[in-house]
Amino acid sequence: GELRVSTNIVCTTTDDRGEEPKYCGVPISDIIQDNYSIGEVISLLWFKTLLPQWATKFMEIVLVTAADHGPNVSGAHNTIVTARAGRDLGASLCSGLLTIGPRFGGAVDMAAINFKHFCDAKISPPDFVETLKKKGQRVEGIGHRIKTAENRDKRVELLSAYAKETFPSIKYLEYAQQVEAYTLQKANNLVLNIDGCIGALFVDMLSSCGEFNEEEVQEILELGALNGIFILSRSIGLIGHALDQKRMRQPLYRHPQEDVLYIASDAPPRGGRK
Ligand code: ACO
Ligand code: LMR
Repeated sequence: GELRVSTNIVCTTTDDRGEEPKYCGVPISDIIQDNYSIGEVISLLWFKTLLPQWATKFMEIVLVTAADHGPNVSGAHNTIVTARAGRDLGASLCSGLLTIGPRFGGAVDMAAINFKHFCDAKISPPDFVETLKKKGQRVEGIGHRIKTAENRDKRVELLSAYAKETFPSIKYLEYAQQVEAYTLQKANNLVLNIDGCIGALFVDMLSSCGEFNEEEVQEILELGALNGIFILSRSIGLIGHALDQKRMRQPLYRHPQEDVLYIASDAPPRGGRK
């Protein structure tokens, strides 16, 4: 009979044992011959299913729109400083990626989870905002350093327009927009930002594509997959910044002293050697 040996690793996405790798059962030669798009490859490797084209195209539009937002944002700044310290491409990229989190670029999952939870529970957008406020929490997906009601984020407009035209439902985007309408009454930079827009639209996409039941949608949100799309996209821009610095042979970066407020006291420190 067959001898079954337990394995240390279980893999359910790819198989590299044959003549060629298979992505979720599809040989890469078919992927090339049938012109699978990068969105379809993400769909296979991340969600283990081939999503409809309006959905894979949406993921591609996210990849393009979130790829870069200039040298001043946290991630690009770190990448630039690291490249100028003489580190290689991998280190420069990773240094930038490490800034992606709840304040910058990594608010997508939490925004999606919250918009879905409060919308499904039929809690009004103002009550949603006030509930988080009472807990001392910021609304993930809302707020921006430079974008305001008067200076809208074109990326958010482009993603929303695509979804309005192609998605079967944009219920969660509409909920997020109502949240924005309320937060804008408090301050004009409390706009729906790109993380929040991607988050709400991913919930719409996952819920209306016909591939996942309610529990599966929730599981995907909790896996952290949506921050993954921002990380993947912004890696394109961060690599661009690292190469840009190397190409120009930029020297070691040192932050100017005049841009630091020194408030350390000259008085002896508290405590002491005993
Ligand atoms: N929810 C509730 N109140 C908020 C929010 C929010 N999302 N953002 C700002 N405020 C309020 C707070 O009262 C804040 O005061 P506090 O510091 O005492 O909490 C006040 O506005 C002032 O905030 P700002 O100085 O205008 O905002 P800041 O520049 O510090 O933050 C940021 C900008 C980090 C984006 C913020 O709005 C935030 O944390 N948003 C949620 C996280 C998020 O969505 N990040 C993704 C941004 S898009 C991207 O990175 C690609
Ligand atoms: C980004 O895309 O990186 C941003 O929207 C964040 C920013 O501060 O511009």
